[in-house]
Amino acid sequence: MASAAGQEERSRVLVIGGTGYIGRFIVAASAREGHPTSILVRDPGPAYPAKAAVLQGFRDTGVTLIKGDLYNHESLVAAIKSADVVISAVGYALLPDQTRIISAIKEAGNVKRFLPSEYGNDVDHVHAVEPAKSVFAVKARIRRAIEAEGIPYTYVSSNFFAGRFLPSLGQAGVTGLPTDKVTIFGDGNVKAIFAAEEDVATYTIKAVDDQRTLNKILYLRPPNNTLSHNELVSLWEKKVGKTCERVYIPEDEVLKKIQESPVPQNIALSISHSVWVKGDHTNFEIDPSFGVEATELYPDVKYITVDEYLNKFI
Ligand SMILES: NC(=O)c1ccc[n+]([C@@H]2O[C@H](COP(=O)([O-])OP(=O)(O)OC[C@H]3O[C@@H](n4cnc5c(N)ncnc54)[C@H](OP(=O)(O)O)[C@@H]3O)[C@@H](O)[C@H]2O)c1
Repeated sequence: MASAAGQEERSRVLVIGGTGYIGRFIVAASAREGHPTSILVRDPGPAYPAKAAVLQGFRDTGVTLIKGDLYNHESLVAAIKSADVVISAVGYALLPDQTRIISAIKEAGNVKRFLPSEYGNDVDHVHAVEPAKSVFAVKARIRRAIEAEGIPYTYVSSNFFAGRFLPSLGQAGVTGLPTDKVTIFGDGNVKAIFAAEEDVATYTIKAVDDQRTLNKILYLRPPNNTLSHNELVSLWEKKVGKTCERVYIPEDEVLKKIQESPVPQNIALSISHSVWVKGDHTNFEIDPSFGVEATELYPDVKYITVDEYLNKFI
């Protein structure tokens, strides 16, 4: 959109799920990058102090709170009409119901770009077992529904959130950093990709007005953050000056562990199986017909490296 002065104006961004884990980073990045930013909130005056503080923080940076609900169609349409770009960051349970956002976008008729809730594996390139298989399939179904409706889109495939996976040094089903032993799925040589949440948000927002990301998957593959589990452990060992016993779990044992674990642990384990055993972050090339890579598009963004991130834990 061009202003009278001929300068490009930033699109108006609506975030649905903006109070969630990744949503908060996206809202902050949107406001920081100068987008008129609004978020759909169910309760703009929550009694819970921590939630109230988050909302006040948003207001303080000029973010507009719009009262609404994914399950209230009129509220959704009204909120969407006030934006150019809709970003969904809804959580796991609401993923299938993003069809409601698609319907509202169709009715509103003004949206230039929709970014559904993704921020993980590229769900069109996965070799996951259940239950991750079904979670990925839901995201893929939402992609197909967006495409069927002809809604302009960008899908953000950001791989592992650093803040979710590095505090356990990539170990699945384990809390905390290793002290003497580290559990590794498979042979530890398969590469995974990490991105700090701040960077996921920054790249997501950079993409919203970029024609190069229109109807494409935006992959986050920071070169310095692409590591095998063995490399990640070695990096940590070097930092702390101590070696850990590496306990390798073969695939058949990983699969058994997944089957025997309750929800939600089995989801986390099956995602780790997809990444660390099957290599689903890195086992395919990005074809320009369907994807672009974020650090190549935005070389000026100084992303947080895994090396830097791990320093926080020392
Ligand atoms: N790559 C990774 O490592 C990784 C890790 C975690 C998640 N993810 C992905 O990131 C995405 C977001 O997950 P998350 O964990 O950040 O989500 P989350 O924290 O569960 O956030 C859910 C958001 O949805 C909102 N919400 C709930 N019910 C709603 C309703 N009826 N109407 C409108 N909004 C509603 C919540 O608002 P309230 O605050 O009002 O409840 C909250 O803002 C998912 O696609 C997930 O798969 C990726």
